[in-house]
Amino acid sequence: MVAPNNVRSEFTQCFGDDSDVRVFCAPGRVNLIGEHTDYNDGFVLPIAIDRNTVVVARARNDSIIRVYSVNRKQEGTFDLDHATPIQKGQWTNYVEGTARLLRQKGFRIGGTDIVLESDVPVGAGLSSSASLEMAVAAALVRLGDQPFDRERMALACQEGEHEYTGAMIGIMDQFAAAFGEEGHALLLDCRSLEFIAIPVLLEHHALLVCDTGVKHDLAASAYNDRRRECAEAVEILEKFIPGIRALRDVSESKLNAYATELPEVLYRRAHHVITENARTLAAAEALQERQYTVLAELMYASHESLRKDYEVSSPELDLLVDTARTIPGVAGSRMTGGGFGGCTVSFVEQDRAEEFMFRMREAYGTELKVYTVRASPGAEEIC
Ligand code: GLA
Repeated sequence: MVAPNNVRSEFTQCFGDDSDVRVFCAPGRVNLIGEHTDYNDGFVLPIAIDRNTVVVARARNDSIIRVYSVNRKQEGTFDLDHATPIQKGQWTNYVEGTARLLRQKGFRIGGTDIVLESDVPVGAGLSSSASLEMAVAAALVRLGDQPFDRERMALACQEGEHEYTGAMIGIMDQFAAAFGEEGHALLLDCRSLEFIAIPVLLEHHALLVCDTGVKHDLAASAYNDRRRECAEAVEILEKFIPGIRALRDVSESKLNAYATELPEVLYRRAHHVITENARTLAAAEALQERQYTVLAELMYASHESLRKDYEVSSPELDLLVDTARTIPGVAGSRMTGGGFGGCTVSFVEQDRAEEFMFRMREAYGTELKVYTVRASPGAEEIC
């Protein structure tokens, strides 16, 4: 965890003193299963993790937001009362998108001085951006002295990211950063936004995240391509299956009945989403019932589907999952997050965790970073 006192002293250096500041944090997330299903109105099973963005913030008397990132050693400024053209590719866009969209959604957001620091690895598929957005949203909403409406805040952050970065992401990451619960995964229905918290009992198992350290450049545009392909599949299928709104509404047997109507690529994209929704519901049940062999098979099947049907895996991720499968005591492993690099998530028996790390590094290279993560709470004020 980032030391809040460190961020406070950085605040003093930037803004003169730390009187009246308030401190907030929001976590990154690892997704256990349910990948690329959120923007298809489907199901996801993320876990908020014990890696956070910490925000130290103080209200100003004007409409200016000044933000300093300890990680980047860079500052940005914008005026909430004056919109300027969006310059893509700036890290401050995550802050500006959040602040402006919260305002548009009716939150009272005023000028604020902000210093932030994060220990969520960037570009690793652990949602460093949603963690930053929710931590900033928590600060802006609380400084305006208004109810902490987590759902509306998460939706504003998601929309801010759409507008300010062009990544047409789903709701999973912001939702996990907002609603995470200690010791629990969240089974979220991305259509109704209803969720249930499922205990992740880690007395016997550890949750290990392996970071390939690779992020392919095409990730953002390929993500939007997948989203478009899913919408195209729905457009074709609704001619044959009236009333469907999203791939969530299509069963595997219906998809197969109309398979020849779809271009082959669209069939595979839809097949992934539809089978992944079923796997996610089954995995939530297996987790609840502690049926780890069932969970393991579902996680491996998810990875295969992402590799072959959805084509968002990478050689590095495949190597990690293929290696994990051969290590005793591994109760499931798969890529996690958007893909094209990033991380895998593995459930490993506690007393085999050391051996797991050793064998994974032996196969991948000693530079492989492995993090042990714990299911942790969502955004909160910490002091
Ligand atoms: C990214 C997006 C999420 C989700 C995942 C894939 O993390 O931000 O909304 O679509 O990819 O499951």
